[in-house]
Amino acid sequence: MSRILSKRANELKPSATLAISAKEKELKSQGLDVVGFGAGEPDFTTPSHIRDAAKKSLDRGETFYTPVGGIVDLKKAVVSRLAQDYGLEYKPSEIVISCGAKHSLYNIFQAVVDPDDEVIVFAPYWVSYPEMVALAGGAAVIVPSSEGNRFIPEISELEKRVTEKTKAILLNSPSNPTGVVYPLEVLENIASVADKHDLIVISDEIYDKLLYDGNTFVPFASLPGMKDRTIMVNGVSKTYAMTGLRIGYLASTNSALVKAATDIQSQSTSNPNNTAQAAAVEALNGPQDEVGRMREIFQHRRDLMLRGIDEIPGLSAVKPDGAFYVFVNTSRFYGEYGIENSTDFSKYLLERHYLACVPGGPFGSEDHIRLSFATSEETILKGLGRLRKACEELA
Ligand SMILES: Cc1ncc(COP(=O)(O)O)c(C=O)c1O
Repeated sequence: MSRILSKRANELKPSATLAISAKEKELKSQGLDVVGFGAGEPDFTTPSHIRDAAKKSLDRGETFYTPVGGIVDLKKAVVSRLAQDYGLEYKPSEIVISCGAKHSLYNIFQAVVDPDDEVIVFAPYWVSYPEMVALAGGAAVIVPSSEGNRFIPEISELEKRVTEKTKAILLNSPSNPTGVVYPLEVLENIASVADKHDLIVISDEIYDKLLYDGNTFVPFASLPGMKDRTIMVNGVSKTYAMTGLRIGYLASTNSALVKAATDIQSQSTSNPNNTAQAAAVEALNGPQDEVGRMREIFQHRRDLMLRGIDEIPGLSAVKPDGAFYVFVNTSRFYGEYGIENSTDFSKYLLERHYLACVPGGPFGSEDHIRLSFATSEETILKGLGRLRKACEELA
């Protein structure tokens, strides 16, 4: 057989973040003492009331297919959280439950992007966005930002990239990888561009509950006139430390989009996992105090991580307002020991100092690496020690 793979599969880049996790696990399994700053998931155990709900669901024998777009109780739980937390009114029929927010995004791109359509993506961006747009046949058009401006994009740069082919603007605030939250004024400006050019806004709000320093989150759909234009994406992975249970959702008032996303799911994965849906109902309807507790711990770790980075000559980072990542500028160390870019630097850290970090290249910046502080204080301190040693060696 000369040609097995499709052009699509041939062109696809695997997730850089998952690749680092796999490499880290592999080295650990060889007995090596690897410190991991690569994690894209909370290190906390899923709260016990959520685990209990999953067990009870299994004991009730809920092990069969559910409706494709999710059980009604979970759609209602999403609706009531959005109403309680943000005063946003959705109907259960406007929610589609999927196998993680990543899957919701995948369905959305499949539903809205035609070949040659363009989707605007702000850099630095989550690694999966351009690939998912490409899998739908479209092209991600990248809007740059500068570190000096805290990675907040200039609206003029956005305007410049809107063309006849632009179908949607994709937003992710708080951002993975920078942790930056776009100020309200910037969201309003993005809203006016979307309005002016009649664009869909896909707002990935997966880190909405991980905001620090007492700041409150503003969902894009809550901006004046934006609800009908916005496809909101969120999930329970990060907020409730239940990444492996794979439950995410989209919320949209557009019934054609909701139907299309559901139909795509019906022909691909069918329903999301039944037991995980029961756990997600409890996560959203049950006590929320664990969310605040985890957030406080994350904030403490963020401060610890930032202080450590600050003390290493040659490194700098923008303070993240949310999520659990710091995007560290490492470009000062390029040019020595064959290190030319973020991948070389990450490889050097992993292979020589057993420190796993994710290179910034796949996020749209070769000048940076992403450090996750979703790990214990002890690990953070140990990893910072290794980072310092590595940088001293290169200085
Ligand atoms: C920005 C962003 N969106 C979506 C996801 C996907 O989350 P889920 O576990 O719900 O698929 C992630 C996970 O890393 C993320 O960082």
